[in-house]
Amino acid sequence: MIKPKIFVTDATFPEIIDYLSQWLEVEHNQADQSYTEPDLIKKLHDKAGVFAHSTRRFTAELFAACPHLKAVCNMAVGYNNIDVDAASAAGVMVTNTPNVLNETTADFGWALMMAAARRVTESEHFLRAGRWTRWRFDDFLGVDIHGSTLGIVGMGRIGQAIARRTTGFGMSVVYHNRTRLTPALEIAANNAQYLSLEECLRSADHLILTLPYSPQSHHLIGKAQLAMMKPTATLVNIARGGIVDDAALISALESGTIAAAGMDVFENEPLFNPAFLSLSNVVLTPHIGSASTSTRRAMAYCAADNLVAALTGKRPPNLLNPEYF
Ligand code: GLV
Repeated sequence: MIKPKIFVTDATFPEIIDYLSQWLEVEHNQADQSYTEPDLIKKLHDKAGVFAHSTRRFTAELFAACPHLKAVCNMAVGYNNIDVDAASAAGVMVTNTPNVLNETTADFGWALMMAAARRVTESEHFLRAGRWTRWRFDDFLGVDIHGSTLGIVGMGRIGQAIARRTTGFGMSVVYHNRTRLTPALEIAANNAQYLSLEECLRSADHLILTLPYSPQSHHLIGKAQLAMMKPTATLVNIARGGIVDDAALISALESGTIAAAGMDVFENEPLFNPAFLSLSNVVLTPHIGSASTSTRRAMAYCAADNLVAALTGKRPPNLLNPEYF
C-alpha cells in the first residue's frame, strides 16, 4: 500500500517519527533547520499532511500552493497560526491538541504568578550576583497569594484547572469569559464569580490570562485595562502574545501601575520587546507553559494520532473544522 506523504515541520521526539512512519511516508526536520514560509510551501507541495508546530503559519496562499494537502495537525492547543476558514475552503482538515496540556499549563500559570508576586527570579539574580551581604527585614517584599482574589480571563479548560488549584490557597476566584460557565462548572472552579472584564480587572489581586488569541482578543489588555488593575496586582500571560499590548505593559511595570508580571508569551515571539529585559518586576519565560516531558510527549502523540486518522480515512479526534466531514 502506498503511504501518504507527510512533513514534520520541526524537530520532535524521535519515537514520534517512528510512530508516524508505520502509516505514513515521513519527511522530517530532526536537524531543526530553519526555513522560510516559501520553503515550507516547497516542502508541502507534494505532501498530504503536516505535523506542525504553532510557530509555522498556514495561510490561504499556502493552501492554494499545496493542492495535495489534506490535513494540518498542530502540536498545540492554540491554532491562531492556521487560517482555519481558508483551510476549510481548500478542503484541508485542521486539528489541535486540547486537554492533554490542561493541568501542566495550569501548574505553570501558578508558577509564574507565585514567582512574580514573591519576586523569586529577581531575588535569585540578586543572590547570584553576590549582592546578598546580610538579611534585611524589607528584602524583596512581595504580595501574598494565599487569601487573595484570583482573576481569570478566559475560563476554558486551562482556566478552570487554574481555578481548581485556588482552594488550597484559600483564594476567591473571579472570571471573565465570552460565555458564562454553567452553575456546576462555576462550583467546581471554586465557586468562581462571573464578572465583566472591567470588574474582573478591578477586583483581582492577581490576574491570569488563558484565552485564545483572535482579532477580538488582540490587545485586550492595554493601557486602559492595566490602569484598572490594583497597583499591587500581578498579571500573568500564559495564553498568546498579542492579547497583552506588551509596550503598554512595560510602561505599566515601569510606572508602578501594577506591581509585577509573569510572561510566557510575547508579541512577535521570539523577538520580544527588549525593554522587558531592563525590568526587574517581570518574570520572563520562553513559551514553556506545556513543557513537562510527559505532557509534550502526550501532545506529540495526540497530533500524530490526528494526522494518522486524517490520512487513513478516519475522523481525527480533534478536528477543528468538522464541516470537512
Ligand atoms: C501552546 O502554546 C499551545 O497552544 O499548546
